Amino acid sequence: MNGLIITIDGPCGSGKSTLCKRLAARLGYIALDTGAMYRAVALAAYRANCDCEDCEQVTKLCGEQRIDFRREAEGERVLLNGEDVSEAIRTPEISLLTSRISSCSGVRRILVRRQQEIGAAGGVVLEGRDTGTVVFPKADVKFFLTADVAERGKRRWLELRARGIAADLESTIAEMQERDRADMNRTDSPLSKADDAVVIDATTLTIEEVLSRMEEIVRVRAAEKGIR
Ligand code: DC
Repeated sequence: MNGLIITIDGPCGSGKSTLCKRLAARLGYIALDTGAMYRAVALAAYRANCDCEDCEQVTKLCGEQRIDFRREAEGERVLLNGEDVSEAIRTPEISLLTSRISSCSGVRRILVRRQQEIGAAGGVVLEGRDTGTVVFPKADVKFFLTADVAERGKRRWLELRARGIAADLESTIAEMQERDRADMNRTDSPLSKADDAVVIDATTLTIEEVLSRMEEIVRVRAAEKGIR
């Protein structure tokens, strides 16, 4: 075995992405942002003028897309059929559309299979909504990361502004609440905490503090399994 399978689930804006990347870097593991895969499908659907309420249509389209990740010095890039879409998948419009297409079971089946293939050998940190409940229900370490919605909204708003995307705080928080509602209430694989997940509330913690907690838990588990 190459290493542990670690999952981080939680609502949008809880810091999963940053923590997944940083934890994976510290451990020398692969970081897998499963949300980026759903986002890439949403972008493809948007460009193809697909009816996003028509699950059959979106599933067919999803099956025709190639989604890859490319590691570069300045961070990981997301490729859709060879095109770098790392920025294009992160607009507020695509975020909302992603929430919609991710409720489609056909899309989830295709992407979950792909995520399982990537992570099967271990030495991976996955982040998303269902990575510890559906993708790897037997993962070695599961985290459920959460934070107050106002705090998550503020962080996302600052992030958007830093990227030069105009947004106001109120509507960023409202959009986040809407995505939380959609993610938690969909029938297939809703956002939920796995029974055996370690819950970390990051409302008042820094990224560094959360990272240290995670690392400690991972080191103990790795030692138990005889993995360096
Ligand atoms: O983590 P994120 O904000 O990039 O996720 C974008 C959307 O994708 C989010 O609304 C929920 C969905 N998603 C999902 O349904 N399952 C996952 N494993 C990851 C993301």
